[in-house]
Amino acid sequence: MKPLWAVTVWWVLLVPRLEASRRGSPEEASFYYGVFPPGFSWGVGSSAYQTEGAWDQDGKGPSIWDAFTHSGKGKVLGDDTGDSACDSYYKVQEDTLLLRELSVNHYRFSLSWPRLLPTGVRAERVNEKGIQFYNDFINALLKNNITPIVTLHHWDLPQLLQVTYGGWQNASMIEYFGNYSDLCFEAFGDRVKHWITFSDPRAMVEKGYETGHHAPGLRLHGTGLYKAAHHVIKAHAQAWHSYNKKWRRKQQGLVGISLNCDWGEPMDFSDPKDIEAAERYLQFCLGWFANPIYAGDYPQVMKDHIGEKSAEQGLRVSRLPEFSLQEKSYVKGTSDFLGLGHFTTRYIAERKYLSQQGPSYHNDQDLIQLVDPNWPELGSQGLYSVPWGFRRLLNFAQTQYGDPPIYVTENGASQKLHCTQLCDEWRIRYLKGYINEMLKAIKDGANIKGYTSWSLLDQFEWEKGYADRYGFYYVEFNVRNKPRYPKASVQYYKEIIKANGFPNPREVETWHLKALETCSTNNQMLATEPLLSHMHFASEVVVPTVGSLCILIAALLLLLLLRSHS
Ligand SMILES: *[C@@H]1O[C@H](CO)[C@@H](O)[C@H](O)[C@H]1NC(C)=O
Ligand SMILES: *[C@@H]1O[C@H](CO)[C@@H](O)[C@H](O)[C@H]1NC(C)=O
Repeated sequence: MKPLWAVTVWWVLLVPRLEASRRGSPEEASFYYGVFPPGFSWGVGSSAYQTEGAWDQDGKGPSIWDAFTHSGKGKVLGDDTGDSACDSYYKVQEDTLLLRELSVNHYRFSLSWPRLLPTGVRAERVNEKGIQFYNDFINALLKNNITPIVTLHHWDLPQLLQVTYGGWQNASMIEYFGNYSDLCFEAFGDRVKHWITFSDPRAMVEKGYETGHHAPGLRLHGTGLYKAAHHVIKAHAQAWHSYNKKWRRKQQGLVGISLNCDWGEPMDFSDPKDIEAAERYLQFCLGWFANPIYAGDYPQVMKDHIGEKSAEQGLRVSRLPEFSLQEKSYVKGTSDFLGLGHFTTRYIAERKYLSQQGPSYHNDQDLIQLVDPNWPELGSQGLYSVPWGFRRLLNFAQTQYGDPPIYVTENGASQKLHCTQLCDEWRIRYLKGYINEMLKAIKDGANIKGYTSWSLLDQFEWEKGYADRYGFYYVEFNVRNKPRYPKASVQYYKEIIKANGFPNPREVETWHLKALETCSTNNQMLATEPLLSHMHFASEVVVPTVGSLCILIAALLLLLLLRSHS
């Protein structure tokens, strides 16, 4: 997500200009009925630190996220940690059953680097129990005809690599990552055919090294993130080359990267400055990583802007590192597919920042982000449902990067209410709208191979702790054993998967009704089962959480309702 102040401060100003410049979005008005190409892969996603728990069990080393969440108050909302998360480490069978119930074709998850290599260094120690855990999980998926799509690094760097070398600030990470990824190819590559090197590296370096909102919590304004990204891009390239040289012939898999970006729509199409600003937004967001990988270098507009500002700030060299000629050719062409994560859209207008304000990724872009207050806002602050932006981003990626095979690796919506809410009709609308725009993008010619909805479970959402719930399955975090309950969207997504799209208006309408019917039975299940366990553990709970109060009230209302009916 973006710096929120930019959004909250500026939306007020947007209304009059927006009304003058555009009226709705005509293309979205027409829902497109049709099906996806045969073999299109449907899935859900997650990551290790967000779900596994067992943070210090069976030989796992600490990650920067363990250190970050343990380092004191105020780092994460509610001072939550991922120490036990969803306990997924202990629930291989149960979670596999949920995936089967959803009838997905693939599951996207990540390997925990410090679970496999406790110190981060392959030459030092390989944790066999970590290998065993992922072996069991991958085998359970395959047994159920679910294709594993595996992320090598989803933000949980081994803490020792941070302490010893400064993490991604240090070029030595390239080789450590290279050796780690090589271990993964060797151990799992006979069964895993889809590899993602990095997940949303932009957020990783921006929040980890610029704003400090994520581990390792550094604030090296306008420098640290560019340096970290530079090493990430080279590390990605090294992993791809290693796969290409050593494993591809035998294993026949694909290696790509997953990049997240919101769509940036020019605020005012009659203003060339806004059009340029929107282009710049996309280049700083997506092009930063995609351009080196697809074209061999950073986007020209990044080099120009950061170079110019660096000079004005009295620096002899640009804060954006340079690739040597050799590195350019080494990095270029190192993705077998493009993974795209996407959640929402922004309007973009030009806004010049003075160089004297100091180096920062935000100021380097010379733009502001705005939102339309009429867009439906979902659970996460700043997350608005704007399906048409998805199609535009997909079309943009198609034309910018030479029509690559695209896997949508993340797309989803979080829960608006803190309270238990299995009737997630708003998520059903989001799914329907966004998946339909993806179908239109395929009709436009984009080569989209699969779609991963975010996420399987409610999980640890980084600086938001457990407050943002993205899951198809509700997780009762306050109850021992972390029971899971299906939300109504499970039923809906299942129907989309079964039909491989949206066959006709009548059928799609019945899905909606059918899905909503399930939530009363599910609510009942949630209300009765864990209520008992709540009572059972009541003595352990000092202060009842908002969540459990909500459940309690919901359960009482339901009981009353049932009584009055019978
Ligand atoms: C990278 O790590 C090496 C070895 O610890 C150290 O000598 C070097 O100063 C580090 N570089 C940076 C930029 O931190
Ligand atoms: C990476 O692996 C190679 C081959 O086993 C080894 O020679 C090298 O020292 C390793 N690099 C690091 C940084 O551990």
